[in-house]
Amino acid sequence: MIKADKIWLDGKFVDFKDANLHFLTHSLHYGNAVFEGTRAYKTQKGLAVFRLKDHTKRLLESAKITLIQCPFSQQELEEAQIELLRVNQFQNNTYIRPLIFLGEGIMGLYHAKAPVRVGIAAWEWGAYLGDEGLEKGIKVKISSLARNSVKSSFPKAKASANYLNSQIAKFEAIEAGYEEALLLDEEGFVAEGTGECFFIVKDGVLISPPNDFSLKSITQDTVLKIAEDLGIKVLRERISRDEVYTADEAFFTGTAAEVTPINYIDARTIGNGLRGEMTKKIQDAFFDIVYGRNAKYDSMLTYIKG
Ligand SMILES: Cc1ncc(COP(=O)(O)O)c(C=O)c1O
Repeated sequence: MIKADKIWLDGKFVDFKDANLHFLTHSLHYGNAVFEGTRAYKTQKGLAVFRLKDHTKRLLESAKITLIQCPFSQQELEEAQIELLRVNQFQNNTYIRPLIFLGEGIMGLYHAKAPVRVGIAAWEWGAYLGDEGLEKGIKVKISSLARNSVKSSFPKAKASANYLNSQIAKFEAIEAGYEEALLLDEEGFVAEGTGECFFIVKDGVLISPPNDFSLKSITQDTVLKIAEDLGIKVLRERISRDEVYTADEAFFTGTAAEVTPINYIDARTIGNGLRGEMTKKIQDAFFDIVYGRNAKYDSMLTYIKG
């Protein structure tokens, strides 16, 4: 159950129960809205938002891509997120969800005159794919759906409209007895998960596809920095389905999914069916960074005091 005292709506804090929208909210009908998913971790020095600037920048870039003019600046949005965490006095790890959307007032597809609204919610949230998933790995099914195409959509935008593709793929995977879906691009190479980027380890080399058909994942970027720190060789190259099946290790990265090992894909066990050795090293380094235990990355954390 998602719970919080306050939600930030169009510049003001409102009680959770009062954060309601009109039925004719434009985005509800046509799906043009953009959002972010950002985490705040309970560090030794209190709650700290991980890569707040990068997430907020991507939010505004997503809005630009989908032709929505946000009435708030990057700084205003960052301050609103910080203040939201303060007023709610969260005690545990928290997930922050800003959404820029089109409100009520006009109908029809041409949205230039639709009012632009912004909301930010935050709530305490644990591991998206489960604590057991983080430790033991999850089962993944390659989706029957291709990922949204760059010819007809905007994979670099964290646009609500992109998530119909993700939602159907995830539903299908879970109904088939798996925990998450992996989507291929139209040519049959790995694009991304429904809300994650994808990595494999093969013969000691870490491989992640280029972001041609995926969001530019902030967690993926963090993992690439970790790999450099650990002296791991990295390749950014296309991954075919057979390479997925024969990987020594595989994992997903995402703000929600963090670094989640994959132990089984389409009825094939990955590696020895447990969390891989390199995956564990990267996961440990990732959690050290987000929990403020690695001074080198301290500038990626925004501490919420008071
Ligand atoms: C489709 C998709 N790909 C990848 C990611 C991972 O991105 P990030 O690590 O920036 O959260 C997400 C989650 O935001 C996502 O929704």
